[in-house]
Amino acid sequence: MKFFIDSANLDEIKDLVKKGIVDGVTTNPSLILKEKERTGKSFEEIVSLIASVVEGPISVEVNSLEYEGMIEEAKNLASISKNIVVKIPMTENGLKAVKTLKNIGIKTNVTLVFTPVQAVLAAKSGATYVSPFIGRIDDISDEGIKIIEKIMKIFKNYNFETKVIVASVRNPIHILNALEMGADIATIPYKVFTQLIKHPLTDLGIKRFLEDYEKSKN
Ligand code: G3P
Repeated sequence: MKFFIDSANLDEIKDLVKKGIVDGVTTNPSLILKEKERTGKSFEEIVSLIASVVEGPISVEVNSLEYEGMIEEAKNLASISKNIVVKIPMTENGLKAVKTLKNIGIKTNVTLVFTPVQAVLAAKSGATYVSPFIGRIDDISDEGIKIIEKIMKIFKNYNFETKVIVASVRNPIHILNALEMGADIATIPYKVFTQLIKHPLTDLGIKRFLEDYEKSKN
């Protein structure tokens, strides 16, 4: 399973790139706004800076809800860097845009997907990636991870090539479950990456080894 970081924060992205544990980036308008407020940089600057440090796919969302607007924005985004993937919302216009963009060689990530059948429709339109939001389903008292299991099974049944990005990840258990289900990718907030790295027994072990090392020097 590939690990993407779900963030537009350049410091977070750089840190994980240095650690060699990140294969790509996903952003959304809320994450870009946070980075704009943190750094004062413009939307284009933020996207270009991310593209300058990440070799893998970088998903950036269109803001238009109209078909023509989506296509225009998608072309502009794709011209920023060859690894830009255009995030398109799961709507009727969105599906139309995905089909057109596939025909002209622009990669897409269909976002705000909440059911397995929405994922199938995105795949049929030619989406490169589909992003089911599991945490937001948990938030309304259902088990978001279940749709990942269903989507993986359905995509296998019908040999869909679209890759599944487990999105709206909130905790390490989401990642363990996604790994067990054979998801293609999980897009993970920085905080969850740090939770995945840490274990109290690792910290305790390091402390004890250091103490014994100090004693062994005398
Ligand atoms: O990857 C989707 C993500 O950006 C949304 O996450 O936590 O706002 O539901 P969240």
